[in-house]
Amino acid sequence: MPRTEFIATGFHVPERIVTNDDLSHMMDTSDEWISQRSGIKTRHWVSDGETGVSLARDAALHALSLAGMQPDALDCIVYCTCTPDHFEPGNGVFLQRELGLTDIPAIDVRNQCSGFIYGLSVADAWIRTGQYQRVLLVGAEVHSRGLDKTTRGRDTAVLFGDGAGAAILGPTDDPRRGVLSTHLYADGRHAEKLWVDGPGLAHDPYVSEEMLRQGKHRAVMEGKEVFKYASVLMPQSVATALEASGLTPGEIKLLVPHQANLRIIEMVQRAIGLRDDQVYANIHKYGNTTAASIPIALHEALCAGRLSRGDLLVLTAFGSGFTWASAAIRW
Ligand code: ACO
Repeated sequence: MPRTEFIATGFHVPERIVTNDDLSHMMDTSDEWISQRSGIKTRHWVSDGETGVSLARDAALHALSLAGMQPDALDCIVYCTCTPDHFEPGNGVFLQRELGLTDIPAIDVRNQCSGFIYGLSVADAWIRTGQYQRVLLVGAEVHSRGLDKTTRGRDTAVLFGDGAGAAILGPTDDPRRGVLSTHLYADGRHAEKLWVDGPGLAHDPYVSEEMLRQGKHRAVMEGKEVFKYASVLMPQSVATALEASGLTPGEIKLLVPHQANLRIIEMVQRAIGLRDDQVYANIHKYGNTTAASIPIALHEALCAGRLSRGDLLVLTAFGSGFTWASAAIRW
């Protein structure tokens, strides 16, 4: 059976940069609070005319150009997002249309911050079994339009940013390379600890002025609970990924964790016992871009020369659901 290799990666973020000081003019917050608690200094927000799908399209075209491929070489799209442009259909079909494609399948993965690794796991299974040969895996989010940008929403509004990352995946027969394993987890007992309650078909009517007045359409989070579970379960998922292939932390060339909070990343690093040069963080620039954070960070790390052919790359993520996941990849 072949393994799955990353043929190319790419990303796209909106031009508009929003600083912590900009946020302090919208709500009662400060650069000091945001920097100390999260490590975030700036994030990118969409402007008029930009959508999740337009960000995803530009990230996909970036990856395709680096792969030296045209969109018509793709035979499947896996689109990971928790901020879809519309209730239905999923963003995947809109991206397919934007890329000028017809007929190829487009699946949407709704696993929030773990989305990219969940999507990788799906794509990896299809590629290994030969069902698809050239899979576009995209993580893209537009959080900014959904945030409560008043003091009421400050505990979440300061953390999230917009952006998209993409990878072109395909089979390799080289037994020393490719995705070694993926590991997916979920625990729905914590579903309401980070969620958007409505609009939703659990409500009748599914959208109402009262719902909007109460702010049920905004993401709400029990930040301390998310922090507590993330800092334990992410290192555990990395340990599982290493054990699955008989590897040790010392063999990791680069850990690319989901970028939710610099303090979480540092706790994960300490728990696994990694050096600074073994961990990639760019949260200071982009904030939490959820399903896009890992592919954006991975692309930047590659451009910075942090990963070479044959190196061991490990991914880990944690987020709403709770869901969490890891992957080990021989680059
Ligand atoms: N500016 C100023 N003050 C604020 C802000 C803000 N932006 N937000 C909250 N506060 C206040 C609160 O009102 C509270 O005040 P009070 O004590 O008077 O009630 C106080 O700051 C809370 O401060 P801390 O207890 O120090 O906050 P904490 O250390 O828990 O940090 C944070 C908060 C940054 C949200 C942290 O809990 C966190 O990062 N959690 C994890 C978030 C995460 O990882 N999400 C990932 C998943 S995202 C996804 O899946 C889509």
